[in-house]
Amino acid sequence: MEKGYIDEPVDKSIDLKKEIRRLCEEKNAIILAHYYTIGDIQDIADFVGDSLALARKATETNADIMVMCGVHFMAETCKLLSPDKIVLTPDLNAGCSLADSCKAEDLRKYKEEHPGYKVVSYVNTTAAVKALTDCVVTSGNAEKVINAFPKDEKIIFGPDYNLGNYINSVTGRNMLLWNGGCHVHEKFSVEEIIKLKKANPEALVMAHLECKAPVLAVADIKGSTATMLNYAKAHPEQKQYIVATEAGILHEMQRSCPEVEFIPVPPEVSEGSLGCSCNECEFMKMNTLQKIYNTLKYGWPSVEVDPVIAKDAVKPIEKMLSLC
Ligand code: 13P
Ligand code: SF4
Repeated sequence: MEKGYIDEPVDKSIDLKKEIRRLCEEKNAIILAHYYTIGDIQDIADFVGDSLALARKATETNADIMVMCGVHFMAETCKLLSPDKIVLTPDLNAGCSLADSCKAEDLRKYKEEHPGYKVVSYVNTTAAVKALTDCVVTSGNAEKVINAFPKDEKIIFGPDYNLGNYINSVTGRNMLLWNGGCHVHEKFSVEEIIKLKKANPEALVMAHLECKAPVLAVADIKGSTATMLNYAKAHPEQKQYIVATEAGILHEMQRSCPEVEFIPVPPEVSEGSLGCSCNECEFMKMNTLQKIYNTLKYGWPSVEVDPVIAKDAVKPIEKMLSLC
Protein backbone atom coordinates (compact mmCIF):
# COMPACT_ATOMS: atom_id res chain seq x y z
CA MET A 1 0.00 0.00 0.00
CA GLU A 2 1.29 3.45 -0.89
CA LYS A 3 1.98 5.78 2.01
CA GLY A 4 -1.00 8.10 2.56
CA TYR A 5 1.01 10.84 4.25
CA ILE A 6 4.23 12.83 3.95
CA ASP A 7 6.85 10.91 5.85
CA GLU A 8 9.15 13.84 6.54
CA PRO A 9 10.75 13.70 9.97
CA VAL A 10 9.97 16.71 12.10
CA ASP A 11 12.78 18.45 13.96
CA LYS A 12 12.61 17.07 17.51
CA SER A 13 13.36 20.49 19.01
CA ILE A 14 10.13 22.09 17.76
CA ASP A 15 6.99 22.19 19.84
CA LEU A 16 4.69 20.33 17.46
CA LYS A 17 1.45 21.42 19.09
CA LYS A 18 2.49 25.08 19.00
CA GLU A 19 3.66 24.81 15.38
CA ILE A 20 0.40 23.18 14.32
CA ARG A 21 -1.57 26.01 15.91
CA ARG A 22 0.73 28.55 14.25
CA LEU A 23 0.17 26.94 10.84
CA CYS A 24 -3.58 26.96 11.45
CA GLU A 25 -3.46 30.72 12.11
CA GLU A 26 -1.26 31.37 9.09
CA LYS A 27 -3.41 29.33 6.69
CA ASN A 28 -6.84 30.02 8.18
CA ALA A 29 -7.24 26.32 8.91
CA ILE A 30 -9.18 24.48 11.59
CA ILE A 31 -8.63 21.06 13.08
CA LEU A 32 -11.64 18.82 13.49
CA ALA A 33 -11.11 15.66 15.52
CA HIS A 34 -13.20 12.63 16.33
CA TYR A 35 -13.36 11.41 19.95
CA TYR A 36 -11.41 8.27 19.00
CA THR A 37 -8.23 10.15 18.05
CA ILE A 38 -5.38 10.29 20.56
CA GLY A 39 -5.70 12.76 23.45
CA ASP A 40 -2.90 15.02 22.14
CA ILE A 41 -4.91 15.63 18.96
CA GLN A 42 -8.15 16.25 20.82
CA ASP A 43 -6.28 18.78 22.99
CA ILE A 44 -5.16 20.93 20.04
CA ALA A 45 -8.31 20.57 17.93
CA ASP A 46 -10.66 23.49 17.28
CA PHE A 47 -13.56 21.11 17.56
CA VAL A 48 -13.93 17.55 18.86
CA GLY A 49 -17.11 15.61 18.25
CA ASP A 50 -18.95 12.53 17.11
CA SER A 51 -19.57 11.95 13.42
CA LEU A 52 -22.85 13.93 13.43
CA ALA A 53 -21.38 16.98 15.16
CA LEU A 54 -18.34 16.89 12.86
CA ALA A 55 -20.58 16.81 9.76
CA ARG A 56 -22.52 19.80 11.12
CA LYS A 57 -19.33 21.68 11.90
CA ALA A 58 -18.18 21.24 8.29
CA THR A 59 -21.14 23.34 7.15
CA GLU A 60 -20.54 26.13 9.64
CA THR A 61 -16.88 27.06 9.47
CA ASN A 62 -15.41 30.18 7.87
CA ALA A 63 -11.97 28.58 7.65
CA ASP A 64 -10.43 27.98 4.20
CA ILE A 65 -8.96 24.64 5.22
CA MET A 66 -10.29 21.83 7.40
CA VAL A 67 -7.94 19.16 8.70
CA MET A 68 -10.22 16.23 9.46
CA CYS A 69 -8.59 13.97 12.03
CA GLY A 70 -10.72 10.87 11.97
CA VAL A 71 -11.18 8.39 9.15
CA HIS A 72 -11.59 8.79 5.41
CA PHE A 73 -15.40 8.81 5.23
CA MET A 74 -15.46 11.68 7.76
CA ALA A 75 -13.13 13.78 5.60
CA GLU A 76 -15.21 12.87 2.54
CA THR A 77 -18.36 14.03 4.33
CA CYS A 78 -16.68 17.39 5.07
CA LYS A 79 -15.70 17.73 1.41
CA LEU A 80 -19.19 16.85 0.19
CA LEU A 81 -20.73 19.47 2.48
CA SER A 82 -18.10 22.12 1.76
CA PRO A 83 -16.85 21.46 -1.78
CA ASP A 84 -15.18 24.85 -2.08
CA LYS A 85 -12.98 24.30 0.95
CA ILE A 86 -9.75 22.39 1.14
CA VAL A 87 -10.17 19.28 3.24
CA LEU A 88 -6.92 17.77 4.44
CA THR A 89 -6.53 14.45 6.18
CA PRO A 90 -3.42 13.42 8.13
CA ASP A 91 -3.32 9.97 6.50
CA LEU A 92 -5.28 8.98 3.40
CA ASN A 93 -5.08 5.32 4.42
CA ALA A 94 -7.09 5.82 7.61
CA GLY A 95 -10.12 3.83 6.47
CA CYS A 96 -12.99 2.11 8.26
CA SER A 97 -13.80 -1.61 8.34
CA LEU A 98 -17.50 -0.80 8.45
CA ALA A 99 -17.39 1.46 5.38
CA ASP A 100 -15.34 -1.26 3.65
CA SER A 101 -18.09 -3.82 4.33
CA CYS A 102 -20.37 -2.19 1.75
CA LYS A 103 -19.11 -1.76 -1.80
CA ALA A 104 -21.11 0.51 -4.10
CA GLU A 105 -21.38 -2.15 -6.82
CA ASP A 106 -22.83 -4.66 -4.32
CA LEU A 107 -25.35 -2.12 -3.03
CA ARG A 108 -26.38 -1.21 -6.58
CA LYS A 109 -27.07 -4.87 -7.32
CA TYR A 110 -29.00 -5.31 -4.05
CA LYS A 111 -31.15 -2.28 -4.89
CA GLU A 112 -31.93 -3.72 -8.30
CA GLU A 113 -33.03 -6.95 -6.61
CA HIS A 114 -35.30 -4.97 -4.25
CA PRO A 115 -37.26 -2.47 -6.30
CA GLY A 116 -39.45 -0.06 -4.33
CA TYR A 117 -37.09 0.07 -1.33
CA LYS A 118 -35.57 3.27 0.04
CA VAL A 119 -31.91 3.05 1.07
CA VAL A 120 -30.83 4.44 4.42
CA SER A 121 -27.07 4.35 5.00
CA TYR A 122 -24.96 4.90 8.04
CA VAL A 123 -22.56 7.82 7.61
CA ASN A 124 -19.72 5.25 7.82
CA THR A 125 -19.86 4.69 4.05
CA THR A 126 -17.98 5.83 0.97
CA ALA A 127 -19.27 8.73 -1.15
CA ALA A 128 -20.09 6.18 -3.89
CA VAL A 129 -22.42 4.34 -1.48
CA LYS A 130 -23.95 7.61 -0.31
CA ALA A 131 -24.69 8.42 -3.97
CA LEU A 132 -26.97 5.34 -4.01
CA THR A 133 -28.64 6.32 -0.75
CA ASP A 134 -31.87 8.18 0.01
CA CYS A 135 -30.96 9.32 3.51
CA VAL A 136 -27.87 9.08 5.69
CA VAL A 137 -27.96 8.51 9.46
CA THR A 138 -25.42 8.56 12.26
CA SER A 139 -25.66 6.57 15.46
CA GLY A 140 -26.74 9.85 17.10
CA ASN A 141 -29.88 10.31 15.00
CA ALA A 142 -30.72 6.97 13.35
CA GLU A 143 -33.90 6.39 15.37
CA LYS A 144 -35.21 9.90 14.69
CA VAL A 145 -34.45 9.71 10.96
CA ILE A 146 -36.09 6.29 10.55
CA ASN A 147 -39.16 7.49 12.44
CA ALA A 148 -39.45 10.32 9.90
CA PHE A 149 -40.20 7.74 7.16
CA PRO A 150 -43.81 6.55 6.77
CA LYS A 151 -44.47 3.45 8.89
CA ASP A 152 -44.99 1.25 5.82
CA GLU A 153 -41.92 2.46 3.91
CA LYS A 154 -39.79 -0.42 2.65
CA ILE A 155 -36.21 0.28 3.72
CA ILE A 156 -32.79 -1.24 3.09
CA PHE A 157 -30.49 -0.26 5.98
CA GLY A 158 -26.74 -0.60 5.84
CA PRO A 159 -23.99 -1.29 6.33
CA ASP A 160 -24.01 -1.73 10.13
CA TYR A 161 -26.11 -4.78 10.97
CA ASN A 162 -26.02 -4.15 14.72
CA LEU A 163 -27.20 -0.55 14.46
CA GLY A 164 -29.94 -1.54 11.98
CA ASN A 165 -31.05 -4.42 14.19
CA TYR A 166 -31.28 -2.10 17.20
CA ILE A 167 -33.25 0.51 15.21
CA ASN A 168 -35.64 -2.21 13.99
CA SER A 169 -36.21 -3.23 17.63
CA VAL A 170 -36.94 0.27 18.93
CA THR A 171 -39.02 1.47 15.98
CA GLY A 172 -40.92 -1.74 15.25
CA ARG A 173 -39.68 -1.65 11.64
CA ASN A 174 -38.63 -4.59 9.58
CA MET A 175 -35.83 -2.98 7.54
CA LEU A 176 -33.68 -5.23 5.40
CA LEU A 177 -30.23 -5.20 6.99
CA TRP A 178 -26.84 -5.21 5.29
CA ASN A 179 -24.48 -7.66 6.95
CA GLY A 180 -21.64 -5.24 7.80
CA GLY A 181 -19.96 -4.45 11.07
CA CYS A 182 -17.17 -2.63 12.85
CA HIS A 183 -14.31 -4.90 13.83
CA VAL A 184 -13.66 -2.87 17.01
CA HIS A 185 -17.21 -2.78 18.38
CA GLU A 186 -18.02 -6.36 17.45
CA LYS A 187 -15.23 -7.53 19.76
CA PHE A 188 -16.98 -6.45 22.96
CA SER A 189 -18.61 -9.34 24.79
CA VAL A 190 -21.25 -9.72 27.49
CA GLU A 191 -18.87 -11.96 29.47
CA GLU A 192 -16.30 -9.18 29.86
CA ILE A 193 -19.01 -6.69 30.85
CA ILE A 194 -20.48 -9.05 33.45
CA LYS A 195 -17.03 -9.58 34.97
CA LEU A 196 -16.57 -5.82 35.30
CA LYS A 197 -20.11 -5.34 36.60
CA LYS A 198 -19.52 -7.96 39.33
CA ALA A 199 -16.39 -6.12 40.44
CA ASN A 200 -18.12 -2.69 40.17
CA PRO A 201 -21.80 -3.22 40.97
CA GLU A 202 -22.60 0.50 41.12
CA ALA A 203 -21.31 1.18 37.63
CA LEU A 204 -23.67 1.83 34.73
CA VAL A 205 -22.86 0.19 31.40
CA MET A 206 -22.51 2.35 28.29
CA ALA A 207 -22.36 0.81 24.81
CA HIS A 208 -22.09 2.18 21.30
CA LEU A 209 -24.88 1.11 18.93
CA GLU A 210 -22.31 -0.65 16.73
CA CYS A 211 -21.98 -3.33 19.47
CA LYS A 212 -23.75 -6.66 19.05
CA ALA A 213 -27.31 -7.17 20.35
CA PRO A 214 -26.35 -9.12 23.54
CA VAL A 215 -24.00 -6.29 24.56
CA LEU A 216 -26.69 -3.68 23.89
CA ALA A 217 -29.15 -5.79 25.90
CA VAL A 218 -27.04 -5.43 29.05
CA ALA A 219 -26.22 -1.75 28.50
CA ASP A 220 -27.93 0.98 30.54
CA ILE A 221 -26.95 3.76 28.13
CA LYS A 222 -26.83 3.03 24.39
CA GLY A 223 -26.02 5.50 21.66
CA SER A 224 -23.36 7.41 19.82
CA THR A 225 -20.13 8.53 21.43
CA ALA A 226 -21.72 11.93 22.14
CA THR A 227 -24.80 10.30 23.70
CA MET A 228 -22.59 8.49 26.21
CA LEU A 229 -20.50 11.55 26.97
CA ASN A 230 -23.53 13.79 27.41
CA TYR A 231 -25.17 11.29 29.74
CA ALA A 232 -22.13 11.31 32.03
CA LYS A 233 -22.03 15.12 32.00
CA ALA A 234 -25.74 15.35 32.84
CA HIS A 235 -25.55 12.88 35.76
CA PRO A 236 -22.81 14.08 38.12
CA GLU A 237 -24.23 11.87 40.89
CA GLN A 238 -23.20 8.73 38.95
CA LYS A 239 -19.57 8.01 39.75
CA GLN A 240 -18.71 4.93 37.70
CA TYR A 241 -19.28 3.70 34.17
CA ILE A 242 -18.24 0.61 32.24
CA VAL A 243 -17.64 1.78 28.68
CA ALA A 244 -18.05 -0.47 25.62
CA THR A 245 -16.71 1.64 22.79
CA GLU A 246 -13.38 2.71 21.35
CA ALA A 247 -11.13 3.77 24.22
CA GLY A 248 -10.30 7.20 22.74
CA ILE A 249 -13.60 8.57 24.10
CA LEU A 250 -12.23 8.14 27.63
CA HIS A 251 -9.99 11.17 27.13
CA GLU A 252 -12.93 13.56 26.76
CA MET A 253 -15.03 11.70 29.35
CA GLN A 254 -12.26 12.03 31.91
CA ARG A 255 -11.58 15.65 30.96
CA SER A 256 -15.20 16.72 31.33
CA CYS A 257 -16.02 14.48 34.34
CA PRO A 258 -12.77 14.31 36.36
CA GLU A 259 -14.51 12.91 39.46
CA VAL A 260 -15.94 9.96 37.59
CA GLU A 261 -14.32 6.58 36.92
CA PHE A 262 -14.71 5.30 33.36
CA ILE A 263 -13.74 1.66 33.01
CA PRO A 264 -13.02 0.54 29.43
CA VAL A 265 -14.28 -2.90 28.45
CA PRO A 266 -11.48 -5.05 27.08
CA PRO A 267 -12.45 -6.79 23.84
CA GLU A 268 -12.86 -10.52 23.53
CA VAL A 269 -10.13 -11.61 21.15
CA SER A 270 -11.35 -14.35 18.88
CA GLU A 271 -9.41 -16.26 16.30
CA GLY A 272 -9.36 -14.49 12.98
CA SER A 273 -10.29 -11.12 14.47
CA LEU A 274 -9.00 -8.29 12.34
CA GLY A 275 -6.22 -5.90 13.27
CA CYS A 276 -5.19 -5.09 16.81
CA SER A 277 -6.35 -7.08 19.80
CA CYS A 278 -7.38 -3.99 21.75
CA ASN A 279 -10.38 -1.72 22.07
CA GLU A 280 -8.76 0.84 19.80
CA CYS A 281 -9.47 1.60 16.16
CA GLU A 282 -6.13 1.35 14.40
CA PHE A 283 -7.45 3.61 11.62
CA MET A 284 -8.25 6.43 14.07
CA LYS A 285 -4.84 5.94 15.63
CA MET A 286 -3.15 6.56 12.26
CA ASN A 287 -3.69 10.27 12.99
CA THR A 288 -0.57 11.70 14.65
CA LEU A 289 0.68 15.19 15.47
CA GLN A 290 3.55 14.76 13.02
CA LYS A 291 1.20 13.88 10.16
CA ILE A 292 -1.06 16.84 11.00
CA TYR A 293 1.95 19.15 10.95
CA ASN A 294 3.10 17.85 7.56
CA THR A 295 -0.35 17.94 6.00
CA LEU A 296 -0.74 21.58 7.07
CA LYS A 297 2.76 22.49 5.93
CA TYR A 298 2.45 20.89 2.46
CA GLY A 299 -1.32 20.94 1.88
CA TRP A 300 -1.29 17.20 1.16
CA PRO A 301 -3.03 14.80 1.31
CA SER A 302 -6.31 16.46 0.47
CA VAL A 303 -9.56 14.59 0.04
CA GLU A 304 -11.31 14.92 -3.30
CA VAL A 305 -14.59 13.43 -4.47
CA ASP A 306 -15.46 12.78 -8.11
CA PRO A 307 -17.96 15.60 -8.93
CA VAL A 308 -20.36 13.15 -10.63
CA ILE A 309 -20.52 11.07 -7.43
CA ALA A 310 -20.51 14.15 -5.20
CA LYS A 311 -23.64 15.57 -6.85
CA ASP A 312 -25.70 12.59 -5.66
CA ALA A 313 -23.74 11.79 -2.49
CA VAL A 314 -24.35 15.14 -0.82
CA LYS A 315 -28.16 14.91 -1.12
CA PRO A 316 -28.75 12.16 1.51
CA ILE A 317 -26.40 13.93 3.94
CA GLU A 318 -28.29 17.19 3.51
CA LYS A 319 -31.54 15.30 3.93
CA MET A 320 -30.28 13.93 7.26
CA LEU A 321 -29.19 17.39 8.43
CA SER A 322 -32.58 18.82 7.51
CA LEU A 323 -34.35 16.16 9.59
CA CYS A 324 -32.40 16.72 12.81
P1 13P B 1 -20.08 8.21 16.23
O1 13P B 1 -21.21 8.49 15.30
O2 13P B 1 -20.56 7.86 17.60
O3 13P B 1 -19.09 9.29 16.18
O4 13P B 1 -19.38 6.87 15.75
C1 13P B 1 -18.60 6.84 14.60
C2 13P B 1 -17.81 5.62 14.56
O5 13P B 1 -17.07 5.39 13.64
C3 13P B 1 -17.97 4.69 15.67
O6 13P B 1 -17.18 3.59 15.45
FE1 SF4 C 1 -14.88 2.46 11.47
FE2 SF4 C 1 -15.08 0.93 13.63
FE3 SF4 C 1 -13.01 2.61 13.38
FE4 SF4 C 1 -15.51 3.54 13.84
S1 SF4 C 1 -14.27 2.29 15.21
S2 SF4 C 1 -14.03 4.33 12.36
S3 SF4 C 1 -16.72 2.06 12.67
S4 SF4 C 1 -13.46 0.84 12.05
